[in-house]
This record gives sequence, structure tokens and C-alpha cells, in this order.
Amino acid sequence: MTEQDFIPELYSKSLESGSISWESPSNIALVKYWGKKENQMPQNPSISFTLDNCKTITTLDFVKKKNEEDGFSFDVYLDGEKKEDFKPKIETFFKRIEVYVPFLKDYHFVIETSNTFPHSSGIASSASGMSALAMCLMSIEKQLNSKMDGDYLNKKASFLARLGSGSACRSIEGDLIVWGYHNDIEGSSDLFGVKYPYEVHENFKNYQDTILLVDKGEKQVSSTVGHNLMHHHPFASQRFAQANENLTKLIQIFKSGDVYAFIEIVESEALTLHAMMMTSLPYFILMKPNTLEIINKIWEFRQDTGLPVSFTLDAGANVHVLYPEKDAKPILEFIKNELVAYCQNGHYICDKIGFGAKQL
Ligand code: DP6
Repeated sequence: MTEQDFIPELYSKSLESGSISWESPSNIALVKYWGKKENQMPQNPSISFTLDNCKTITTLDFVKKKNEEDGFSFDVYLDGEKKEDFKPKIETFFKRIEVYVPFLKDYHFVIETSNTFPHSSGIASSASGMSALAMCLMSIEKQLNSKMDGDYLNKKASFLARLGSGSACRSIEGDLIVWGYHNDIEGSSDLFGVKYPYEVHENFKNYQDTILLVDKGEKQVSSTVGHNLMHHHPFASQRFAQANENLTKLIQIFKSGDVYAFIEIVESEALTLHAMMMTSLPYFILMKPNTLEIINKIWEFRQDTGLPVSFTLDAGANVHVLYPEKDAKPILEFIKNELVAYCQNGHYICDKIGFGAKQL
């Protein structure tokens, strides 16, 4: 498919007003997206587990505008409170998707959104938020063109979400999503996320993700700035090649169920992501002392018990502790007894693999 395939023909129906609600989850990358080209195209393919509990719930109310005034017309609310500071990001999103969603300027929208995780938890809400909004817009388009099939709808929702925030395109479906063209993965595309199409061993179904909230403050460096620093990065081309190789290795690992080989790739990806930050110019560090304390504790525990507990990181100090459901009991004990002490105010979130956005 190409971008052209997402430009709709004239709609068969018209709509005066309506209201649509979707919830959409966050996701955690196993092979990381870090570095992008023009138009939100990734420099390398990535793969993620879709999450279940960490999600955004969005209601989109729309009324046809009376006057033909130019420009987008919308208000945004978070937990019932008007958020002027959210508007520029949504305005940018609308500008990027306007050609694919030509009805955007015909309506006044009220976007009401809330997250199941605290806004100040350091968990990025852009993936869940942008994917929920993309799903709401696709529901409107579906009403304007009832012939649209479900596969196209999901692909276009993912395509739109990507234009809001790259990783958001991996939140529409679950449980394992690939985004970015990879030679060995059929159907993979830079334009949208697709379900991982090959065999996945039982060991990787129901994977658990306990998110340890080490630092709930605002990030000092945004993902967008970080992605841009990959442009003149001395290790960029090696890094993009490595992500491709890691994805190739994962195909065999998902099939065989080798959790220890999985751990090696996932932890290396997390540390490489942060190594890229530390070796860009300007350089920066998003990990905190407690991030390192937790990583060392996880390694020690794994060494002592042989249990397949591992970690990954996103662009922040929080630690995602990953483990198979069948080992949950002793690992949760370990988390509570030894890791929670390193969390800000003892806060952590228990999550697991999920299956994507749902209409409410
Ligand atoms: C470290 O998707 O937040 O979480 O496209 O600029 O919105 P933008 O970036 P974003 O980057 C996420 C980076 C990451 C890794 C990942 O999720 O693959």
C-alpha cells in the first residue's frame, strides 16, 4: 500500500453531528524505534507488546460548522479540564492528516480524554492518546463510507496514529505489532503497524509487564528531539542495521519459545536506546540512579533463581519488568520485596499483553 491508498474518494453519506468513544492502550517496544525520516517514517523497524491496563479513553463529539470559516475548530479536555496546552500537538496532527481526513474542517470537535495511569507518571500518553483519537476519526469516516472493511479501517487508523506519534501506530491492535519495513516480515510497512504474522510460542502469550515508576517528572528531553539527534549520530547506521538483525533473530526466538535468548535481545535493545542518547550531540541521560539499582537487582535475582525476569526501558527513567505469566508469583514477590523501594512513592503499575483499541 502507499499513502495514496489512504486518501478517500467522495463520501456517499453526510453527517450533521455525533459522538464516538474509544479506548486505546499504550505499548512497550522490544526492538526500539529511535530515529525517523520525513513524514514520521521510521529509520528502522520496531516490534512491541501492546499493553492492557495503561490506556487512554477518548470521546469525540462533533457538530457540523455553520459558517465556512477556514481552520480547525476544536477544544480538548483532560479529566474534564480544558487543556489549552494540548492544542498545538493536536493542531499539528490535524495538519498532517488533513489530506487523508478531508472532513476535519467541516466540524467543530470536542475531544474529551482521560488516562488510566496518572498523567504525571512519566508513562507517555502519546501512543494511547493518538491511537484513541485516530480510532474516533476512523469511526466517523466509517459512518460516511459504510463500505469500508475492518482491515482497511485498522490500517488507516494505524497510519493516522503514526502521523500523530510514531509509536502510536503500534497501539491499534495486539498482541505483538511490527512497524517498519523488514525484509523477512511479510506485510510489514513503514506506513503503519501490522500484527506479527508468524508463529509465537506459548511462553510469549500473556507476558506480564510491571512498570516501576522511578521518576514521574517531565522528561528533560522529548522523544521528538531525541529522534532528531539520530540524524548526525556517529553510530546511526550501525544502530539501524542492528535493529533489523534483532528483529530477524526474534522470529526464530518467538517460534522456539527461548525466553533467555529473548531476554538478551530485549535488554540489549533497551540499553542501546539509552546508549544512543548518551552518544548523541548534545548528549543526555534519562536513566536515574534507581533505574540502575533496579537493573542490577534484576540481574542478581535472575542469576540466583534462574527465573526469566528481564527489563526494558522507554525514553525515560521508569523500568518495565517483563516476565512470563507462569512465573508471576515469585517474580511479583521479588518486585514487592526488593524493587518497589526504588520507585517514587513506592508506585508501580501491573500490566500485561493486551489486544488493542476497543470502541465503547
Ligand atoms: C523510546 O513515538 O514518542 O518509546 O514519533 O516523535 O512521537 P514521536 O516519538 P515516539 O517515540 C517512542 C520512542 C521509544 C521507543 C519505541 O516506542 O519504539
